[in-house]
Amino acid sequence: MQIKQVGVVGAGTMGNGIAHVFARAGYAVTLYDVEQRFLDRALDVIAKNLARENAKSKITTEQRAAALKNVTPVLDRARLGECDFIVEAATEKIEIKSELFRDLDRIARPDVILASNTSSISITKLAALTKRPSQIIGMHFFNPVPVMKLVEIIRGLATTQATFDTVRDLAVALDKNPVQVNDAPGFVSNRVLMPLLNEAMYAVMEGVATPAAVDEVFKLGMAHPMGPLTLADFIGLDVCLDIMRVLQAGMGDPKYRPCPLLIRMVDAGWLGRKSGRGFYLY
Ligand SMILES: NC(=O)c1ccc[n+]([C@@H]2O[C@H](COP(=O)([O-])OP(=O)(O)OC[C@H]3O[C@@H](n4cnc5c(N)ncnc54)[C@H](O)[C@@H]3O)[C@@H](O)[C@H]2O)c1
Repeated sequence: MQIKQVGVVGAGTMGNGIAHVFARAGYAVTLYDVEQRFLDRALDVIAKNLARENAKSKITTEQRAAALKNVTPVLDRARLGECDFIVEAATEKIEIKSELFRDLDRIARPDVILASNTSSISITKLAALTKRPSQIIGMHFFNPVPVMKLVEIIRGLATTQATFDTVRDLAVALDKNPVQVNDAPGFVSNRVLMPLLNEAMYAVMEGVATPAAVDEVFKLGMAHPMGPLTLADFIGLDVCLDIMRVLQAGMGDPKYRPCPLLIRMVDAGWLGRKSGRGFYLY
């Protein structure tokens, strides 16, 4: 089957970025969310980001207009029945994704692949909720989606080679670099990154160094573009804590214990950049 019409479920930070890159690559995109204001906001963000790419001569004015025309916002979930491929990027809650995967399985044609952009939920578990476990896969984009080259492609226990090949080819068509990963808590990206961020927080909590000093060590000594505490603030400290808890629960190893300072900061509502305060003030 040739994939022409792509469904994107959830029009938040990741959903609007995913819709952007598919539309830019010439796919017709059906963008679904639960409230009109989320769709309006997503279209606004997509239009602004396409305009920025146009201003930087990354795309032409014609490509910018064509990409925007390729996105159709919908509130009616049944419209996803028209799609040849669906990627889910809704809120990271198991109840929400479980309900969605059961229903998408009912709505989508039997030959359609259903992908999830989840950062931490088991692809194998989502697959088991459907009658098409061999066609369920993780397609994990990175924020900001139009800029970041990596797509982690996560194979659940039942995911077939044909499903993997199709999604890998799609990622390449989006001008991304796909990397194959098997289903395990945190996949590769968060399993390796989050303990680093968590350990940086322990260093601050124990008075080993200030946040700025820890970040300098990583920027200047390891050539990281930003230090771990700046990155944690950017990701959101609540998101970091949720992922540490997924790693802790999934591996059962004490090395994944969330840093107590992180827990206290999240309790205080210091969530990083988005709340105006995290390891730094914004
Ligand atoms: N933000 C990141 O840096 C990042 C990176 C990689 C992966 N992810 C993953 O991407 C997914 C989305 O994250 P986000 O940061 O875009 O979240 P977000 O909160 O910005 O957006 C989530 C969107 O999903 C919508 N939604 C909720 N329930 C829905 C439903 N039943 N049907 C359709 N839409 C629904 C919400 O209205 C919202 O617009 C999560 O699984 C997250 O783990 C996030």
